[in-house]
Amino acid sequence: MKLIVAAARDWGIGNKGQLLFNVPEDMEFFKNSTMNKVVVMGRKTLLSLPGGNPLKNRTNIVMTSDVNFEKDDCIIVNSMEALYEELKKYKSDDVFLIGGGILYNELYPYCSEAYITKFDAILEADTYLHNFDEDKDWLLTYASEIHEHEGLKFIFTTYKNLNLKE
Ligand SMILES: NC(=O)c1ccc[n+]([C@@H]2O[C@H](COP(=O)([O-])OP(=O)(O)OC[C@H]3O[C@@H](n4cnc5c(N)ncnc54)[C@H](OP(=O)(O)O)[C@@H]3O)[C@@H](O)[C@H]2O)c1
Repeated sequence: MKLIVAAARDWGIGNKGQLLFNVPEDMEFFKNSTMNKVVVMGRKTLLSLPGGNPLKNRTNIVMTSDVNFEKDDCIIVNSMEALYEELKKYKSDDVFLIGGGILYNELYPYCSEAYITKFDAILEADTYLHNFDEDKDWLLTYASEIHEHEGLKFIFTTYKNLNLKE
């Protein structure tokens, strides 16, 4: 499984149920990376998607503790055990952890790589990502040149997990 996220300089990733950044080039990167693949998300991230609907052309797996939760075109799992059981059906390279804060922070040790778009800004946030720069188990293996959108600078990075949990 791989993690994909957009983060601010202070690792903020969301506020009041919404993303902090909405930059077409980053959205395109997310779309191209996950298209026709499997995406794993928490119930709150599903709610934050347009119309609260799953992502098209992807297998959507949603975690919730609510055993009565139903949503068309989503595979619902109610526990970590159920998630692991479900993930056995797919090639791990095809599975992307797409958020949000709770799911990222529970599952990052089980991700082989993290694709982190880092924005050179700090915005009001209530949801934060683990600090990958301060974690010796994670190695920065790629950093793009600086991109810019309406004055907002950002880079695409890849971190590799040196201590992958199975
Ligand atoms: N920057 C980015 O790239 C990015 C990406 C995605 C999301 N976000 C942002 O992140 C925020 C949402 O994140 P969040 O941390 O509030 O929520 P979240 O991680 O999306 O979802 C949390 C929910 O997932 C379920 N869950 C988590 N662990 C579980 C477990 N072990 N077993 C069963 N269910 C479990 C629970 O649902 P129940 O309450 O139903 O039990 C929990 O309330 C939003 O602001 C969103 O925009 C940012």
